[in-house]
Amino acid sequence: MADQNLKIGEYELERPLRSENSGFSEWGFGRKDGQTYYIKRFLSPVYPPENGKLGKRIVERKKAMCSQYEEEKKILFWKINEVSDGNLLRIHEFFRYGTHYYIATEKVEAMDFETEVLPLTLDEKIVLMKVLCHALSSLHMAGLIHGDIKLSNVLFYRTENNTVSARIIDVDTCFWKYKPPTNPDELIGDFVYLSPDYARFMRGQTNTVLDQIDIFSMGLVFHELLTGKLPDFDHDKYSYLYESVLAGQKPVPDPSIPPQLRKFIESMLWCTQDVYPDAWSLLQQLRIMTQGTVRSISREMEGTGTSLPEAVNGGTGPKSDNPADWFHVPGEL
Ligand SMILES: Nc1ncnc2c1ncn2[C@@H]1O[C@H](COP(=O)(O)OP(=O)(O)O)[C@@H](O)[C@H]1O
Ligand SMILES: [Mg+2]
Repeated sequence: MADQNLKIGEYELERPLRSENSGFSEWGFGRKDGQTYYIKRFLSPVYPPENGKLGKRIVERKKAMCSQYEEEKKILFWKINEVSDGNLLRIHEFFRYGTHYYIATEKVEAMDFETEVLPLTLDEKIVLMKVLCHALSSLHMAGLIHGDIKLSNVLFYRTENNTVSARIIDVDTCFWKYKPPTNPDELIGDFVYLSPDYARFMRGQTNTVLDQIDIFSMGLVFHELLTGKLPDFDHDKYSYLYESVLAGQKPVPDPSIPPQLRKFIESMLWCTQDVYPDAWSLLQQLRIMTQGTVRSISREMEGTGTSLPEAVNGGTGPKSDNPADWFHVPGEL
């Protein structure tokens, strides 16, 4: 009989799920229908087990919470799939198996950042920046915010044509701009990449969360992509960059970055709640910057697996138009 630890619904795991590089989940790879998928198990909420150990009222309350969680996530993931240009990681399946919830997504054969991504040419890095701006723009135009943009939530990979591309992952942290998380447990964010405005929201100093929080964090990712490090700040005075920004210090991009790109990154890092570039206009700026040096945007995007703006909603999105159709419970697996 198959090892039950290595089976999750229809997925056969290569090894038990582990919480490596991961905050709120356990993950690994599993095979189904001859394909390998990335599988992520969420540590909460936990569906109440039917073992009679919990009182009836508690079971009912937990079931109601889980059912609300399912409804919210189904709609969220369905929307992400709908707007994804392919470089916003699509959710292949969202399901419950036993007491836990899971997502399965395509497995990305990620390049190693230090040895394979950092040595890329400037032109290749700009292509990656365009891909990431495009993916972020698709998300923002749908009214969604990622909320946890950081280097480890971007996977870089080679396309079949041997060009480079990137995917934004950890999309389950996304939330609706007009319904930001209020429960402190749901406020996920890495302090290293945290935008000053998201920090202010977390402290209860503002009620709004704008796309800007992703733009700031992506500015830091771009800085790392171009230089291998984050912008410097006064480490004696502050533990994190956002603290120095809140104290009035503007982040200074590394002088090794070409002037035009330095200005571009400054615009991402110097933004405020009122004035900030949106992801779409950042993409246009990169496009203008590279006009003449890179072929046409359509050819280039083709090569990176990125669709043109018009095709954003037309890709191989969700399997169905109805979010309810692709959620599974154990009996269906
Ligand atoms: N689709 C994928 N293919 C390959 N590896 C992945 C994929 N998605 C995530 N990973 C790996 O799993 C790690 C954790 O995934 P992530 O979705 O960021 O989980 P968490 O919510 O726990 O941060 C990532 O840092 C990356 O190394
Ligand atoms: Mg992550």
